[in-house]
Amino acid sequence: MSPVTTKKIAVVPGDGIGQEVIPQALKVVRASGAPVGFTEFDWSADRYLRDGSTIPPDGFAMLAREFDAILVGALGDPRVPSNIHAKEILLGMRFQMDLYANVRPVRLLDESLCPLKDARPEDIDFTIIRENTEGVYLDMGGSFKPGTPDEVATQEDINTRKGVERVIRFAFDYARAQGRRRVLMTDKSNVMTYAGGLWQRVFKEVAQGYPEIAPQHMYVDALCLAMVREPRQFEVIGANNLFGDILTDLAAALVGGLGVAASGNIHPGRTSMFEPVHGSAPALAGKNAANPIGAIAAAAMMLAHLGLNPYAQKIEGAILEAVRQKKTTSDVGGSLGTRECAEWIAGQVR
Ligand code: NAD
Ligand code: IPM
Ligand code: MN
Repeated sequence: MSPVTTKKIAVVPGDGIGQEVIPQALKVVRASGAPVGFTEFDWSADRYLRDGSTIPPDGFAMLAREFDAILVGALGDPRVPSNIHAKEILLGMRFQMDLYANVRPVRLLDESLCPLKDARPEDIDFTIIRENTEGVYLDMGGSFKPGTPDEVATQEDINTRKGVERVIRFAFDYARAQGRRRVLMTDKSNVMTYAGGLWQRVFKEVAQGYPEIAPQHMYVDALCLAMVREPRQFEVIGANNLFGDILTDLAAALVGGLGVAASGNIHPGRTSMFEPVHGSAPALAGKNAANPIGAIAAAAMMLAHLGLNPYAQKIEGAILEAVRQKKTTSDVGGSLGTRECAEWIAGQVR
């Protein structure tokens, strides 16, 4: 018998509800029997406030060298108003490990989760591919005469040919692998002409290599309207970092909210990172009330990425059943706590 290779997973629960939902996601993965081993890191606001550290100097290289994937909860804590630890840990992983494609599936699991009239699961099933290493997120800019009536602030939007091309290519490859027929690129090229011009040109060029896939475009404001009015038309959407961030919260609202949304921060062939889309929800923390499904679904995405599809599918099937039977937290219509919801899902998976 050939030995089963155990995949090594680095786990960063982080802050707030991250510390509650991640242990529950690990419980479900263990119940699935997937051949994975977990190593936990306490990088968080607690640790930063204790000893001033965020992530060790060799942290990103160590993660890339020693782990097959990373599972993160959430980072952000009102006791750290600068958010410096979250920037260094979370954005640090995205940037330093060059995880350039943020993949955020938007799938309606059950009619009851959608605020739109008469929307059925087959009406909302698309994926947003968000550029994850550039844009305004690089926080480049400056200020002049701060605190005076003459104050000037600039915030630069960084777009490189390499960065734009690789994420657009990723979106087309993703569409091809998933058997999708359309890729829509969104921007604000009618106003942001330099960055938009680059995105437009690269999109048209890359699309030529995928003749079976129809390239489409919408300005991001029009896309917000269309996503609410007729979400059925979308299959794969590519966007820059900031538009992708905003669109994915809007999209999450169509399918049950932040409590159920999952994401993967991916660089093909490298150690990639998976996390729920939600943040640390400080007001919800410590109450056993946070929905664990986003974290559990992120863990399932991670297993699929690692080639452990049967385990991922088992978990996804159990999530679907939990939602249908309302064995969930109150944000999606159930009456269970964080632990009880995850326990129910783990039971189904087992
Ligand atoms: P948030 O996602 O924490 O919360 C937004 C809203 O969604 C709140 O009403 C919250 O109660 C609800 N919510 C979020 N997750 C939920 C869950 N699992 N179950 C039920 N309800 C849930 O966003 P925010 O309030 O804007 O930010 C709080 C902190 O988290 C900030 O410090 C922010 O920077 C950080 N943040 C981190 C990440 C991340 O680590 N990836 C993402 C977003 C926000
Ligand atoms: C997300 C979050 C992060 C982002 C924050 C916490 C920096 O909102 O993952 O969507 O803006 O990317
Ligand atoms: Mn966001």
